[in-house]
Amino acid sequence: MSTTSPVRERTAPASPRIRRFTGAQRVLHLILAVTFFGMLWTGLCLWSPALAEVMNRPLAKQWHFWFAIALGVAFVGILILRPRDVSAFAKEVDTLDRADREWLKGGVRRIVSHDGAPEQGWLNAGQKLNTAITIALLIVLTFTGLLLWLGEQNTTFRFTGTVDVHDIATILIVALTCGHLYLALFNRTTRASMSGMIDGTVDREWARANHGRWVAEVEAQTDLDQS
Ligand code: HEM
Repeated sequence: MSTTSPVRERTAPASPRIRRFTGAQRVLHLILAVTFFGMLWTGLCLWSPALAEVMNRPLAKQWHFWFAIALGVAFVGILILRPRDVSAFAKEVDTLDRADREWLKGGVRRIVSHDGAPEQGWLNAGQKLNTAITIALLIVLTFTGLLLWLGEQNTTFRFTGTVDVHDIATILIVALTCGHLYLALFNRTTRASMSGMIDGTVDREWARANHGRWVAEVEAQTDLDQS
């Protein structure tokens, strides 16, 4: 007598890769990365007289502006064309459940002890916080950037401190992005996530170890679809 469950008999063997991000999510991330570094470079040229020799201020200002517009247009465009891909991601970031709170509680201790983390969903609590803070800082940068641009046309929009807030938000987002790049490119346990942003898939066993609840949910859904 066979001990295999009927569902398992019908199910094709799981691929060693699992889909993590859709095409639209990857395109939006790529545009975010390109425009972010574009705005950072042109912003540095506006800030530093030495770099203004490499790219003059009027040109840097123009590019700075157009990178910001490109990011805004890409975001709205993908929201219109692929609303489900954006809303699935937003919904994930918006939920901070018990596993997330446990992950956050042990976060600092785990850096030293290397203990295993509590099982996580699609994104872990650190990634959710990273996304939320990055979005908040991008909103602050957009708003203060808009005031700076309007202030050049009309003095009513000039406020003391606008440049300082823009600069502080820049420093914070650069610090956050340095941490993000370290985890994506160098950290041994997390760098396997990189392929998720290239071809959309990651190693299933890596995902199981780092985002176990998410893999279980995807596999349960696949079993249901195939039954
Ligand atoms: C070339 C530079 C970059 C690389 C190599 C990179 C890599 C990655 C990777 C591999 C992921 C997926 C992580 C996962 O599977 O869970 C990711 C997600 C993400 N990236 Fe990037 N990224 C870059 C630039 C940026 C920039 C400039 C920003 C924002 C300023 C950003 C914001 C995010 C956010 C919000 C997420 C989702 C949450 C997270 O994983 O923290 N990325 N990135």
